[in-house]
Amino acid sequence: MLILGIETSCDETSLALYDSESSFIDGNNQYKGKIIASKIFSQDFIHSRFGGVIPEIASRNHIIKIKPLYDDLLKDALISAKDIDVIGVTTTPGLIGSLFVGVSFAKGLGYALSVPVVPIHHLSAHILAAELTHRDLKPPYLALIVSGGHTHIFDVDVAYNFRLMVRTVDDAAGEVFDKVAKVIAGIYPGGVYIENLAKTGDHLKIKFPIAFRKEDKFSFSGLKTSVINCIRSGEYSNEDVAASFQHTVAKTLSDKVFTIAERLGRDKIVVSGGVASNGYLREVFQSNKKFGVYFPTKYLCTDNGDMIAYATYKFYSKKEFLSMDATASDRM
Ligand code: KG4
Ligand code: ZN
Repeated sequence: MLILGIETSCDETSLALYDSESSFIDGNNQYKGKIIASKIFSQDFIHSRFGGVIPEIASRNHIIKIKPLYDDLLKDALISAKDIDVIGVTTTPGLIGSLFVGVSFAKGLGYALSVPVVPIHHLSAHILAAELTHRDLKPPYLALIVSGGHTHIFDVDVAYNFRLMVRTVDDAAGEVFDKVAKVIAGIYPGGVYIENLAKTGDHLKIKFPIAFRKEDKFSFSGLKTSVINCIRSGEYSNEDVAASFQHTVAKTLSDKVFTIAERLGRDKIVVSGGVASNGYLREVFQSNKKFGVYFPTKYLCTDNGDMIAYATYKFYSKKEFLSMDATASDRM
């Protein structure tokens, strides 16, 4: 099967092709199924001057970019549209205008090519991105998604049922990275900036609060206020604030994930989403001796079409497709 994956839920327009029959060798093992081409247009540089994603601007840029990216993708893969067997597209969660662009494009193409269109849940795809990186990884595992919009822990069973175990009751962890960077330097998005600043800081210098230590919940708004107050007080260097803040986030996330994995008897942990590309967070998770921890590559942590194409391959057999009736309302 040749699968086209389409991602437009936020500010990345991205398309990829997964060929389930292509094989490749990694080390001593041969694997079947791989991404044969992938394209992305990231709008970060467009939204950065506004300090956050402007939904209307995001959807308009998806409209401008999606067709040229699709054309380039087919050219790179040396295939024609007729070779596509299935299309998968992110239908939820995301910015409604942005999602509409991807879904409309997918449905139009599906209709023209007479191929099914599979609705993909964005968070399930973020989790499956770890399997694209670690080809022997299979559920059951516990999965943390930590991005600009989500800080969720899911338990994934052997049949790929996703059970939500923990979520943030207010801000997502990535959102707080962005807010802290904005207050320190007026920079957006802020994750990479904070990670670099933290490299020369002391991560134990400032004790920031951790909420809900014992409950199955995350909360980051208290941490956000505490860090901002600390910056404004001018008492500590920005490097020490960044390092101590980053350490608090990594500890909050890893303590909770390890506690729940232990309780459920899971020995494998997946960590995905934009914040999962943070090197310090990776170190903290990987320094544990008890659980196997699986991160996608840094590229696959942030939004991309590759994970949508792969999730489509995994979920195609459920035979749940989008309606091709133009008047049908899709759940988004
Ligand atoms: O998954 P993603 O690309 O988009 C969604 O929010 O769905 O994640 C973007 C978030 C932003 O908040 C960004 O600041 C954060 O991921 N991020 C990082 C790093 N790279 C991106 N946070 C901490 N450290 C990083 N290296
Ligand atoms: Zn995402």
